[in-house]
Amino acid sequence: MPNAIEYVRQNKDRFRSELEALLRIPSVSTAPERKGEMEQAANWVAAELKKLGFDGVKLMPTGGHPLVYAEYMKAGAGAPTVLLYAHYDVQPAEPLDLWTTGAFEPTVRGENLYARGASDMKGELMALLKAIEALLRSGQGLAVNLKCMFEGEEEIGSPHLAPTIAANKALFKADFCLNVDGGILAPDCPSITYGLRGIAYFEINVTGPVGDLHSGIFGGAVHNPATVLCELIAGMHDAEGRVTLPGFYDKVRALSAEERGWLAKLPANDAWWMEKSGAPALFGEAGYSSTERASARPTLDVNGFLTGYTGKGSKTVLPSKAMAKVSMRLVPDQDPDEIRTSLERYLKEKAPPTITWTVDTHSSSRASIMARDSVAVRAASAAFEAVWGKAPLFKREGGSVPVVGQIQDLLGMESLLVGFGLPDDNLHAPNEKLHLPTWYRGIEVFVHFFEQLRKK
Ligand code: BES
Ligand code: MN
Repeated sequence: MPNAIEYVRQNKDRFRSELEALLRIPSVSTAPERKGEMEQAANWVAAELKKLGFDGVKLMPTGGHPLVYAEYMKAGAGAPTVLLYAHYDVQPAEPLDLWTTGAFEPTVRGENLYARGASDMKGELMALLKAIEALLRSGQGLAVNLKCMFEGEEEIGSPHLAPTIAANKALFKADFCLNVDGGILAPDCPSITYGLRGIAYFEINVTGPVGDLHSGIFGGAVHNPATVLCELIAGMHDAEGRVTLPGFYDKVRALSAEERGWLAKLPANDAWWMEKSGAPALFGEAGYSSTERASARPTLDVNGFLTGYTGKGSKTVLPSKAMAKVSMRLVPDQDPDEIRTSLERYLKEKAPPTITWTVDTHSSSRASIMARDSVAVRAASAAFEAVWGKAPLFKREGGSVPVVGQIQDLLGMESLLVGFGLPDDNLHAPNEKLHLPTWYRGIEVFVHFFEQLRKK
């Protein structure tokens, strides 16, 4: 057995408890009151990198949360250089009362470790660092040069990352990027992600009367902004589940028959989507399979809706305002800025004169498709085979990771997406968990991956 794999197996309990220490830091990037904890998490990661012997470890200011940079360039000029990408921020844990144990009190139950960020994605970040530790401390050695880009704003759409990359192109330049913010299909089904959807995320605010009104005195005389916003949102899809915003599909790259063939071979059939979602029935755009709809077709979702009285009991109010958070998942070659124009055109055409509306953008990033045949993909395939005893499947992911498109555009660099979160890990939801046996295997995959690159 290679030294580093033995090291992983001997140290896996300590690895888990170190992951737990990182999970205890509530690094919620969207919450202004968590600024201190964000810095604490960045410093924690930086300290880990220093312990591993990385050079040039620094917290780079971005205008938002800091980016952790570090490099290990001891493999020499002939060796490949890999840019490692991960994010140390997490989504909010609310609603807290739905967690069985505290969101930031990591707890093992059965084969799983429960905590916000366990799967998305402090688990992967630590799997990567622990694989590197195993290679360095076991004496096996690391035959690749590494640069780290560990950001703190992925969960809010990486708003300051593109300018930071643009201003530091030489610093981040590498042969390719290993992005560990991917997922895996199932514990017995290793997979590599070769496509991500983009996102265009908006907040729509509708205002009717200048203040809340008594619904008995004014109901019937003025238009209710809650009703108006419901109608506007309801009109964003047709009966076939297609998005009605003008021009929404104009640039959508059609799925080739060949690619539809590959996607059809993935194990996620309708029964799988039913089971994983817990929904009473599936729904979506006519003419496409569930897997296609959730990974390779664009969609529009309401992520939040707020208006009127939502407390206990009742209150007869005609609200002055209504707000909806609406996001679109995009596919190649849709442009997030053009999608905003398309939303505004829709609202201009459909909104009645009884209200006023505004649109604000929360995040935008384009979709990306990655190479399925490259030195990086071959090394990852061999690494999966070494650990799982079978070759990985190639899947497209419906989620978004903005950095992938940004480094394609700014650095001309490809990303390899490999991660170990499962589709039912409750990402962004209460009781997020990490499947520990899969995580331990993931650490070994990264060890094999770096070892594979030595031979290239
Ligand atoms: N790790 C996820 C993306 C992902 C999900 C990859 C499932 C593979 C499998 C990432 O952290 C994420 O959630 N991104 C956000 C980005 C958004 C806020 C711009 C997303 O997709 O909602
Ligand atoms: Mn996420």
